[in-house]
Amino acid sequence: MLKIGVLVSGSGTNLQSIIDSIKAGHIQGEIAIVISDKKSAFGLQRAISENIPSVFISKKQAGSIDNFNAEIIRALKSYSVDLVVLAGYLSILSKEFIQAYRNQIINIHPSLIPSFCGNGYYGLKVHEAAINHGVKVSGATVHFVDEGTDTGAIILQKTVEVLPLDSAETLQQKVLKLEHQLLPLAVKLFCEKKLNIIELENKPTKVLVLK
Ligand code: GRF
Repeated sequence: MLKIGVLVSGSGTNLQSIIDSIKAGHIQGEIAIVISDKKSAFGLQRAISENIPSVFISKKQAGSIDNFNAEIIRALKSYSVDLVVLAGYLSILSKEFIQAYRNQIINIHPSLIPSFCGNGYYGLKVHEAAINHGVKVSGATVHFVDEGTDTGAIILQKTVEVLPLDSAETLQQKVLKLEHQLLPLAVKLFCEKKLNIIELENKPTKVLVLK
């Protein structure tokens, strides 16, 4: 049974979608620990309600980004985590973190990468950019995390139509529903070892998904 570590910074609805999917028996894995960089993150409450070990790790107390990330790595290692899931997690991962869990970290982003992603694109800002650009479709992306921001190999994507009367808020709600489908599916596929990473010379890494 694979051990999953989930990092949250906010309400944790994506965490909840994984919890629910595991409870429904869809995922051969268990959430070993939930970690947040925000003491007030409701995602921590969701873990407590499910008797899942949870911990707030303070960036401030850690003193530096590297110490902060080292503390998170220590917590993940202490629970023998095999897969790290960034579920609405907003802090930067250090190079050491990426190296410690190469190709074992996945992230959910609320747009069709490579659109509306990278530094500064998170939460509602993503959807404001999509609406302002007048796109006709948007969606969600699950990808592996590498040293860049939202640049890792894409695992799954799902689209949603953007209607003329859509606002950033209504689009956010439509995309969030897709996230709650995609993230548990990506976790399921990872646990079933169906995500084959194809690394070719001088080419972006790709993921071959065996369904
Ligand atoms: C949402 O904006 C979602 O699109 C992104 O993280 C934010 C919070 O999600 N992935 P959650 O409810 O905390 O999972």
